[in-house]
Amino acid sequence: MSDTLKRDAEYLSPALGRAFDLVAVKAEGSFIYGEDGKKYLDMTSGIAVNQVGHAHPEVVQAIADQAASCIHTSCVVHYPANIDLAEKIAQIAPGDLSNTFFCNSGAEAVDGSIKFAKRLKPGRNNFIAFKGAFHGRSLGATAFTSSKSAYRKFYDPLLTGIHHLGFPNVYNVSSQEARDKLVDHYQKVFLNYFDTAVHPETVAAVIVEPMQGEGGYIPAPGLDGTKNWLQFLRDFCDKHEILLIFDEVQSGVARTGKWFASDHYGVVPDIQLMAKGLSGGMPLGGFCSRKELMYEMPPGSHGSTFGGNPVSCRAALKLLEIIERDNVMDNVNARSEQVFSFFESKFPGADTRKPADEHNKKIKVRGLGLMLALVFEDAETVNKVKAHAYDKGVLLLGCGTYGNIIRLAPDLTVTEENLQRALDVIAEAIA
Ligand SMILES: Cc1ncc(COP(=O)(O)O)c(C=O)c1O
Repeated sequence: MSDTLKRDAEYLSPALGRAFDLVAVKAEGSFIYGEDGKKYLDMTSGIAVNQVGHAHPEVVQAIADQAASCIHTSCVVHYPANIDLAEKIAQIAPGDLSNTFFCNSGAEAVDGSIKFAKRLKPGRNNFIAFKGAFHGRSLGATAFTSSKSAYRKFYDPLLTGIHHLGFPNVYNVSSQEARDKLVDHYQKVFLNYFDTAVHPETVAAVIVEPMQGEGGYIPAPGLDGTKNWLQFLRDFCDKHEILLIFDEVQSGVARTGKWFASDHYGVVPDIQLMAKGLSGGMPLGGFCSRKELMYEMPPGSHGSTFGGNPVSCRAALKLLEIIERDNVMDNVNARSEQVFSFFESKFPGADTRKPADEHNKKIKVRGLGLMLALVFEDAETVNKVKAHAYDKGVLLLGCGTYGNIIRLAPDLTVTEENLQRALDVIAEAIA
């Protein structure tokens, strides 16, 4: 064990688990440089964060320039950086979501949006979330998270009135008929819950990830000819005057090949959450909504010392500018196709986007853009593939309740060659 790791064990809390016993001394583009003198190809991008790679020079410069002029004032005064960013978000967010509250992380965005929903719907004390959802680790967000019960163990009782219903994974079945039946079944079970257990008039909000993240990189039905689950939720919420919250903390900011995953479904939420990929690795989160709803929250009804700090906001503005200027989403879509077609050619039936009589048993690929799941038979296989890749200098992360999934979430600017190297290493490991 290196001296650095010994000091890590000596002084840091072990509560934050680490995927690798690797000490990074530098990170640039798609690579992390280890204390061991090796260069690692990073297929994790800091858990779907570094959209334009580690330490993009223009993002670094924007951070330095802002730090030199003003690092922090908090809400003592107004400042242009968060105003400029909120204006930009209004342009790229779906529908008429025009006003943003900034915070520091995904979990804070979740917590803030729940307070917001409570404020907008006084007296409605129930919330609907989904099994397999991950919304973060703060005390509030943990109550909405259900991707692994281990995340909740020891912390009960959490917030009350949160009901986790089923999230349909159409990629678990292969034929179109089975997929349609599955969605129908989940819709019936969902509606039945409101006839039996919880009256819809007591529900403030439904919170859903348009594409589940930690739960296994599962797009909601609505793509590839399946019934639109998000539209079903939208219609249900409209009927009962319930707020619809999309948690796009992981799926947002071009990760799926559009600004937000909901753009693939053509469904607009009432409140949308962002964080992770928003600001090039600087801590920043936010929730946005329509002006008339946001103005229901008067000054002082929510707050944050650091939320939307000028340095993070300038990093975010530069990042969004690069994504647009360099047509980064074209690369996301091309690299995504590269992954699907590579595995389909090596392992016929691996591409689960198209229904089939049977999909490949060894490996299945699902997802959108560069938020892709490689689904293996079991966790043991995943651990072997990850270990092989690590030996070859490629960093891969798992996800999913049962640990049988590798998620590919490289930076959105990853080159064809670098991505291919990772794919070859994975195919080698499977072989
Ligand atoms: C969908 C989603 N929501 C919320 C969070 C929590 O974000 P953070 O870790 O920044 O608190 C995550 C983190 O993985 C996430 O994927």
